[in-house]
Amino acid sequence: MNFQSKIKTIEWVDTYSKMVDQTVIPYEYKFVNITSGDEMFEAIRNMVVRGAPAIGIAGAHGVILYAQELEKICLTKDDFVAKLIEKAEYMKTSRPTAVNLMWAVEKQIEIIKASNADIKGIIEELKQNGIKLENEDIEINKKIGDFGAEIVPKGATILTHCNAGALATVGYGTALGVVRSAFAKDNSIKVFADETRPRQQGARITTFELAMDGIPVTLITDGMCSYFMKKGMINMVVVGADRIAANGDTANKIGTYTVAIAAKYHNIPFYVAAPLSTIDVSIKSGDEIPIEERSHDEVTLINGKPICPLKGVNIINPGFDVTPNELITGIITERGIIRPDYKQSIKEVFKN
Ligand code: MRU
Repeated sequence: MNFQSKIKTIEWVDTYSKMVDQTVIPYEYKFVNITSGDEMFEAIRNMVVRGAPAIGIAGAHGVILYAQELEKICLTKDDFVAKLIEKAEYMKTSRPTAVNLMWAVEKQIEIIKASNADIKGIIEELKQNGIKLENEDIEINKKIGDFGAEIVPKGATILTHCNAGALATVGYGTALGVVRSAFAKDNSIKVFADETRPRQQGARITTFELAMDGIPVTLITDGMCSYFMKKGMINMVVVGADRIAANGDTANKIGTYTVAIAAKYHNIPFYVAAPLSTIDVSIKSGDEIPIEERSHDEVTLINGKPICPLKGVNIINPGFDVTPNELITGIITERGIIRPDYKQSIKEVFKN
């Protein structure tokens, strides 16, 4: 379905990466230009760019930025290649959970290793590959959206957690890609967006981008989801993913697991929408997914103001949780919807 979203989150422009600054949404919608590899590392770590597919592209751009810097100081191609691979490996460590980052940077490393070109030629190949990954991301999300739209009931209200929209990808979105494609077919569908503490991606970003695209959205706080499920006001849940293990266990923003348990209790289908690049077949189960521990300030402060005593209170702030595969009705990918038994169906999808 052709839903025209106005958002392009990140793109390579000649010698730099241009991205939407997600730290200021919804107060401002502005772009920042990232011009060095270290600046990109910080932009990923500080969530100027966020969302698994978007940080993957950011990582790929980061490798181009490092390549441009190394061109100025390396005297031989061998030295350039060795130093660039080191920088690319470093870029992978900017955030630990979303595997798309490692996946996209690895795609650039493959180019570096395979290239017969000189330094300038390698940089050009990295740029072309970065742009290709951007374009593919949007195409993949549209496919995810279209497969997902087929299973959205008429007039449905879809609950989502965090932001898995255009602003978490290059464009269109994964979970919100499903929403966009479904809305193009049936403009009576609606979205409930969980606020998503502590960083409030649902409140700040999901509501912002859906309102921008004219899709009806209702904001609720995280603890409200089972209340609305019990009232029969939620027909399905669609969330994104940061990493999916070979058995279907899915890491996504903290709080997703709670939503999945509530959905199971109320017999509401719970879907994950993600590109195949989010599936990490190298790990057997969700227990092996590294969970990012983020700054305590995210929990103790809202808009810079404390919401609890800053002394004498323990804080813990995992950025993600893992939803066990048995709570997941299906995983919507660009190759169709993967269903249980995930161990088997994930193996099958990677065979083709
Ligand atoms: O910490 P964030 O904002 O990068 O976390 C994002 C999420 O958890 C998203 O839901 C997930 O990356 C899916 S993105 C299409």
